[in-house]
Amino acid sequence: MYSLPAYGQMVADRARFDAYRSALERAISEDCLVADLGAGPGVFSLLAAKAGARKVFAVESDPSVEWLRSLAEENGCGQRIEVIRADSREVHLDQPVDVLVSDLRGVLPFFGQGLLSLIDARDRWLKPTGTLIARADTLWACPVTAPFWYRRQVGAFQPGALGQELGLELSILHRAASNHWCRADLEPEACRSPPEPLGRLDYLRLSTPHFEADAEWRLTGGTVHGLAVWFDAELDAETTISNRPSTSSPLYGQAFFPWSEPLEAREGQRLEVKFEARLVGEDYVFRWRARHLDRHGQTLAQQDQSTFFGAPLGLGDAQAARLGG
Ligand SMILES: C[S@@+](CC[C@H](N)C(=O)[O-])C[C@H]1O[C@@H](n2cnc3c(N)ncnc32)[C@H](O)[C@@H]1O
Repeated sequence: MYSLPAYGQMVADRARFDAYRSALERAISEDCLVADLGAGPGVFSLLAAKAGARKVFAVESDPSVEWLRSLAEENGCGQRIEVIRADSREVHLDQPVDVLVSDLRGVLPFFGQGLLSLIDARDRWLKPTGTLIARADTLWACPVTAPFWYRRQVGAFQPGALGQELGLELSILHRAASNHWCRADLEPEACRSPPEPLGRLDYLRLSTPHFEADAEWRLTGGTVHGLAVWFDAELDAETTISNRPSTSSPLYGQAFFPWSEPLEAREGQRLEVKFEARLVGEDYVFRWRARHLDRHGQTLAQQDQSTFFGAPLGLGDAQAARLGG
């Protein structure tokens, strides 16, 4: 459940707002039917109505969508916006739509059951010739030097931190904390190599919420604290937004996946990574495995991390049962 100020931050992100507005204006003609999936308080629905849509179905499970009833009246489009407060997967629209707009992402497109909801709405609501906004996300990744985010994520339990100074043995928590990812705000200088694409989610064709990719980088020297992952979104053929390091869109940030031990890299060494995002029930289990290689291809270090290992034992057991593991 989002708070109204959280929705406010989404609306206040100028790059994102302008990009969705112009993609909607290009896609919508007068006779158009639009579905706004995950409408929140309904800003995309208002934009679609203002762009001339004949009717907009604003579908949202959160109570915040109730604001849209008054907002639609205030904006002179009360007759053209139908508010549907429900989980989209339980909603049947009596006519297929020309445009389906949504932003169900978190920091990454792998957020709760968003991809499942999008696949379902696309298959049941959108005309075969209809327009999907956004139509694709390309995932990017890069090894990064990120001492601030690393300290914030795992520093409290590291050897030499306060707990150990006071005689406590906290290495179990150090291992577990390094199996958690976080939202970070990184600068391009954090990158220890040019970013590599992990893959493209083509929303017109996507059929699974799961994702896995391999990537490899030639490193510049320095400490590598973990992997940064972000996306470039294609809203339509002309409009893109991105949450790459140092972007003008501050809303999403980047996803930072720490190593359990930072790597000391020398110029010319390589890093191979296998990245997985697997939807398990309501949420994603991420796994990020790394192999650090010298110039001759000899393995210097390996790490195998997963949010699964970051859960306390009891919860891990429950997830393992669901995974069949
Ligand atoms: C990131 S917010 C976007 C809100 C708004 N569209 C905007 O861009 O400002 C995503 C919204 O999607 C809603 N949502 C996610 N999955 C949904 C589903 N299956 N059915 C209805 N609403 C959903 C969430 O409750 C949340 O309000």
